Parts: sequence; structure tokens; C-alpha cells
Amino acid sequence: MSDAERPTVAVLAEVAAAAGYAPSVHNTQPWRWRVADTTLDLYAVRGRQLPGGDPEGRLLTVSCGAALHHARIALAAGGWSAEVTRLPDPADPDHLARISSAGRASVTPEATRLFQAARVRHTDRRPVSDTPASAEAIAAIDRAVRAEDLEMHLLTRDQILELAAAASNADKVEAQDEDQRRELAYWIGGDRPEGSGIPDTAIPSRAPETTVPGRDFVRAGTLTVGPGHDRAAAYAVVYGQGDEPADWLRAGEAVSAGWLTATEAGVTVLPFSSVIELPATRQTLRDVISNVGYPYLVLRLGTAAPDTAGPPRTPRLPVSQTVEVVAD
Ligand SMILES: Cc1cc2nc3c(=O)[nH]c(=O)nc-3n(C[C@H](O)[C@H](O)[C@H](O)COP(=O)(O)O)c2cc1C
Repeated sequence: MSDAERPTVAVLAEVAAAAGYAPSVHNTQPWRWRVADTTLDLYAVRGRQLPGGDPEGRLLTVSCGAALHHARIALAAGGWSAEVTRLPDPADPDHLARISSAGRASVTPEATRLFQAARVRHTDRRPVSDTPASAEAIAAIDRAVRAEDLEMHLLTRDQILELAAAASNADKVEAQDEDQRRELAYWIGGDRPEGSGIPDTAIPSRAPETTVPGRDFVRAGTLTVGPGHDRAAAYAVVYGQGDEPADWLRAGEAVSAGWLTATEAGVTVLPFSSVIELPATRQTLRDVISNVGYPYLVLRLGTAAPDTAGPPRTPRLPVSQTVEVVAD
């Protein structure tokens, strides 16, 4: 392969920086990229894990998987093929993935669209409007998740009520746990000038009227919430066949794929992870999907009220903290 067919280090560094737009639990951005001549290595940053809420690093790994998918999309949109090796070093569990670029590839319209969607994707914690996400949009999200070898189950009305009870229970347990309260106080609220965590502008100014309670951030933000109720929301459980780090990483890739597809289709997404953090409510979700797999994340899907402003983008860490160039 000639040099012209290889991405330059500068291109790979841009790809790693673009992956920083990915969603992550509490906007912790628990990843670090090492850029070498033709490879991008993704590492988990344990210092950004939530020891209280996420002691096993499940949500950290799902978040890193979302960043991995964002990097794959950025490469594809730039016309580069990529080969991904997940957990390439058995001696280093924090080395989550290696992307090796195999050279030029034609740019598909889908890659271009998903890359554009990554620039505007965000979490929307306001109630959804009364217009449900269309069946076509839900089917497209489902296809995107399946293309990453995972499954998505859309909850029935009764299952939504079970989810509501589980979410409320998880919130109560979280609120009673000193470590988790400290974690919330550290990551949530304020202006977040250091570039991580959830700013007040993304947190509802009052608890929205919802069937399934959103995560209780224990403080009011400044995001204006309309009078709507979440009646038209759909809830999907993303699940798969294993409950190991390799599965969580794939889950993050699938969540990212589904979320970017949703964004492109005008569907808003709100993840629910407190029900995943707690073993008891995680088991409730397993029962909901008839024990056919392991749940990784619940996504609320809906459409935003047309005449209200969504939250502004959440901050990101400076690239100097997340991307390290080691090539000459
Ligand atoms: C694995 C994971 C779990 C998340 N869990 C929740 C949650 O329980 N409640 C919530 O409001 N947002 C949740 N989020 C959304 C993040 O808070 C959000 O992605 C982050 O703050 C960055 O903001 P953005 O998505 O608007 O870019 C989760 C995101 C990920 C990737």
C-alpha cells in the first residue's frame, strides 16, 4: 500500500478528536486515544469511572464503545476503511480496542449522514411530544442496533410500567448511598468549565411529567420543561448474549449506531442507566426480556415538541486530555 493510501497521523488524530462527541455516562468521557502511524488505540480511563454507581465498569465500557463507534463513523466518512480488534491485549483489560486503517474506501452516503448526526446528537431530558417516533424510524434504529450484532426489544405498555417501578426503585437506592450521592454532586450541575460532567443547561428546571422517572440528579437545572407528558414515548432495551467487557463494548457501539440513526430520523433519545447499575433492577430488566439476553441500556425514544429549544451541547474535555499522538 502506498503512503497516499494510508491515513496520516493528523487524520487519525482528527478521528480520535471527533470520537469525543460520543455520549458517556454522566459525560465522564472515560477514554483515551493513542494515535500511532496507522493505528488508533482506545484505552479506558479508570480515574473517570464511577466507583459507586458503576463498580464493574459496565457503563464506562459502554461509553467507550460509543466512542469507538464514533471513531469508526469518522473514518468511514473520511473515506478510510478500518479493521477493529476489540480487547487486543489479554494482559491489559483497559486496552479496549485497536483500529488499524487498511487504506482508502469509498464514502457511503450513510457514513456521511451518520457523521453529520454525530455533530448534533444530544441527550434530551425534556418530556417527548405527543407525536410518537414513526414505525419507520423505530425500525431503522432497530436495524442499526442489529447491524452491530445486538438486539433491541421495544417494551409493551405493561413492561413500561415495570420499568417505571424499577427506575423509581433504583433512584431511591442511589439516593440512600453516600458514595453515589457524592459522585452525583461531583459530576452533575454547574457550568462544568473543565469540560466534563452534566451542566445545569442539560438538566430540567423541574421534574418532567413522565411515566418512567428520569434519573434523579438531585438538583434542578435550567432546561425549560414544557407541560407535556411522556405518554407517546417508546422504550427500548438494548441487549445481547454476554455480560462481559467485550459485550459491553459492543453494546456501546450498538447504542451509538442506534442513537445516530435516531438523530438522523428526528427521534430524541434519553438513556436510562440507573436500572442497569443496580443488580436487582438489572435482573428485573432481564425478566422483562424473558431472560433471552443481558440488558445493557434502556433508551427512551420520542420526538421533541417542535416549538421548544433543546438543550445546548454539553461540554467536552480538551483534546489534549483525551488524544495522545505517539507517532514520529
Ligand atoms: C452508558 C450511558 C448511560 C447514560 N445514562 C444516563 C441516565 O441514566 N440518565 C440520563 O439522563 N442520561 C444518561 N446518559 C446520557 C449522558 O448523560 C450524556 O450522554 C452525557 O451527559 C453527554 O451529553 P450529550 O449526550 O448531550 O452529548 C447516559 C449515556 C451513556 C452513554
